[in-house]
Amino acid sequence: MQDGIKRTIEVPLDDRSYLIHIGRSIFQEIGAMSAYAGRHVAIVSHPVIWKLYGDQLFQELLKIGIIPVPCLVPAGERHKTWAQIGKLLRTWAEAGLDRGSAAIALGGGVVGDMTGFAASCYMRGIPFVQIPTTLLAQVDSSVGGKTGVDLPEGKNLAGAFYQPELVIADISTLNTLPRRQMRSGLAEVLKYGYIQDVQLASQLTNSGVSLLKSTHREWPEIIARCCQIKSDVVQQDEREGGVRAMLNYGHTLGHSIEALMGLGHMLHGEAIAVGMIYAAILGEQLGYTEQGTHQRIAHDMDLFGFSQSIPALLYDQEIVQQMSRDKKSARGSVKFVFISSVGSVSLPIVTVDSTQMLKAIQTHREIYGESREK
Ligand code: GLY
Repeated sequence: MQDGIKRTIEVPLDDRSYLIHIGRSIFQEIGAMSAYAGRHVAIVSHPVIWKLYGDQLFQELLKIGIIPVPCLVPAGERHKTWAQIGKLLRTWAEAGLDRGSAAIALGGGVVGDMTGFAASCYMRGIPFVQIPTTLLAQVDSSVGGKTGVDLPEGKNLAGAFYQPELVIADISTLNTLPRRQMRSGLAEVLKYGYIQDVQLASQLTNSGVSLLKSTHREWPEIIARCCQIKSDVVQQDEREGGVRAMLNYGHTLGHSIEALMGLGHMLHGEAIAVGMIYAAILGEQLGYTEQGTHQRIAHDMDLFGFSQSIPALLYDQEIVQQMSRDKKSARGSVKFVFISSVGSVSLPIVTVDSTQMLKAIQTHREIYGESREK
């Protein structure tokens, strides 16, 4: 049986507050745009998503008297570039979008990040709406206002905090999401359980691989729970001066693996799945994390079919060096988020040195395999 009930979560940020609607077949929520969008609205998407959902959105916009301007961008992280932002802005200018216009991101995290960034600077800022079509974007990147692009020197190195006016997480769009992408999003869902919600973590473990089907009846409730946690964190710390860092649990190693393997080889969730096991091992070694936590996390990763091991292709030292290059690191020491146990983040974040990081990599390799030393 499918849950047809729509959930609505608020992100309360004074005059930048907005709603996240979560449900199945809810594109009609776009009607709210008539309050702030002028005559023209750019819909940024990539060709595959546009073919699947573009017409449906187009028709909803026509119903409220808005003329949609489709702007297709190539799919994939390697196209999240400065050059692509330039092209997008020029397309908007050529189409005659003005200060009263708005933009919609229809797609996954790459489309959302680029549309938000372009909206933040087009004519010094126009409103934008997120319609995320991947699980990862629905529970994470479409909420909280992080927008931007990658530079050759690193991921998300240029960008802006720029909040959307509205988020429409239509779970029906996940029906066409490849299984591997669905699983990648599940890693971020598990992350919310590990940092803030032991019941959510247990619910996910109990439901197991049946969650890889987007039609699973628990999805509306689970996505709403993730968005509520993210909303609470963003409300407390919009610009990541403190507690928002907890959302990066598992990301220090995860981002490094993604970068070293070459963007696009490992999906984001696959890399942070390994990163969350590693952060538990490191936290246990440094006394921040309850002993046995890494086994529990590794068990979940195995259950959902993630690799638990740090890729054999990578040398231990190069991983440590890459983690030290993370944009949140300072002078060779790296800031880590730990959990004290499943469901409970340990704050404040901790500065870790290279010897400690290396030791935990070696332990991770010993337990979960694929060792490679220089
Ligand atoms: N994805 C982490 C954050 O939004 O802060």
